[in-house]
Amino acid sequence: MKKSKGNSIRASEQPVPLSRIAVAIMAAGKGTRLKSQLPKVLHEVGGKPLLEHVIRAAVRLVPPADVHAIIGHDADRVRAAMQHTGINFVLQPEQRGTGHALMVAREALAGYDHVIVLSGDAPMITPETVGQLRDFHLQQRAAMTLLSAELENPTGYGRVLRKSAHSAQVRAVVEEKAASPAQKKIREINSGFYVFSVKDLYANIGKLSTSNPHAEYYLTDMAAVLRKAPRPVVAWKAPHPGEVLGGNTRAELADIDEKMRLAKCRQLMNDGVTIFYPATCVIDPDVEIAPDTIVEPYVQLLGKTKVGTACRIRSHCVIRDTEIGDCVNILPGCIMDDSRVSAGAIVGPYSRLRPGSEIGEGAHVGNFVETKKVKLGKGSKANHLTYLGDAEIGAGVNIGAGTITCNYDGVAKHKTIIGDSVFVGSDSTLVAPVRLGNGSYVGAGSCITDDVPDDALAIGRARQIVKEGWAGEKRKKK
Ligand code: UD1
Ligand code: CA
Repeated sequence: MKKSKGNSIRASEQPVPLSRIAVAIMAAGKGTRLKSQLPKVLHEVGGKPLLEHVIRAAVRLVPPADVHAIIGHDADRVRAAMQHTGINFVLQPEQRGTGHALMVAREALAGYDHVIVLSGDAPMITPETVGQLRDFHLQQRAAMTLLSAELENPTGYGRVLRKSAHSAQVRAVVEEKAASPAQKKIREINSGFYVFSVKDLYANIGKLSTSNPHAEYYLTDMAAVLRKAPRPVVAWKAPHPGEVLGGNTRAELADIDEKMRLAKCRQLMNDGVTIFYPATCVIDPDVEIAPDTIVEPYVQLLGKTKVGTACRIRSHCVIRDTEIGDCVNILPGCIMDDSRVSAGAIVGPYSRLRPGSEIGEGAHVGNFVETKKVKLGKGSKANHLTYLGDAEIGAGVNIGAGTITCNYDGVAKHKTIIGDSVFVGSDSTLVAPVRLGNGSYVGAGSCITDDVPDDALAIGRARQIVKEGWAGEKRKKK
């Protein structure tokens, strides 16, 4: 790999003393450029809100108790959405700029030696890169270390003004709006990630001013402020510039989403999963798939879905929080939520498994079959046009086409229990609560309201009448 300029400079070879390190995440902004009711940091990319990606990186560097998210715009909503991460929140009731965000965090950061500052709207950042930035900061004994990146198109970003081309030292950061034409040509941008010495930051933060086009306190101005103090300010160049990309507009969010989705597909392919046409597949970060499974185009695998080995998931399936065993064949157009499908089962095309569906080993669920809170036993089949809700169904059962469990009486839900090796004829309605004993048989077209004993036949329909010659007579009369 090519060595980036400035990255190899060492201020001292002395061992770096242990220090207490916090992470502050700036997440208070409204995100005006998104034109949204939803706060910017809650917009989703790669299956999670922007801020959650950043928090995930942060908690791999320090414990959640040392992570402080600075929130402001719609703070209650942001706090509620991120509560599960166990981090702390600092309120910035008025958003007067990134410098102001750190001003309000002063008390929360009082007990630390250094603070890593992350942007809540740049979700591609990895803990590896931030860890290297922290190490560089500590080795340099800097007051401020900023993560820079060399971008093909630096438009919109702050530019890094180094003391000289080969120096790690930074003179200032100039925002796009204030940059001269010559400065706009600089391709080394400020990523919005920093490490500060807490002491130096708060001894000098009062020197920030709001004399800029937005009348805000810019954290970026700390570079020039600390330089004048004079305290050391350095930049370290990100080895993978793609990590610093921020999502300020819907188009930028779409770009980031695409990159993250593709990265997830690549990782799965590396691990032995075949994905045809990965650009069309949406696979959430926590999804696990075992090797030799095939994912066809236009598939969504969401939430905590887990798929075993040697499965095939055909096109247009949307599967959330569902566990799928080995060698399962999922035919096109299935929808599954919070369900389990055991090894060797065949589901679809066009099956809908609603929460609590448990499809047994080698079982078949066919087209236009809806299930909810159902156990379908080993090798049992419900192949066509059926609703099975609140039911326990044994092994080796055949559920005929058009069978309906009538689980709801208008007030409460009731259960249908079906034993092993039962045969339910087509177009039967099973009015719950009702029980069909092992080996029993239900005639087609039955409405079953009473329990059926083991090995019995139940027929619940009007007896057929045949009137000889009736149709012929009718035709003659015409
Ligand atoms: C900022 C940097 C710019 C850098 C870019 C990288 C400043 C002045 N500029 O610009 O040099 O190239 O990031 O992406 O810092 N926020 C608060 N409180 C506030 C204002 C903002 O918490 O009062 C948060 C936002 O929610 C956001 C982050 O700070 O998560 C960055 O703010 P944003 O307005 O997006 O800054 P940029 O214009 O992107
Ligand atoms: Ca931004």
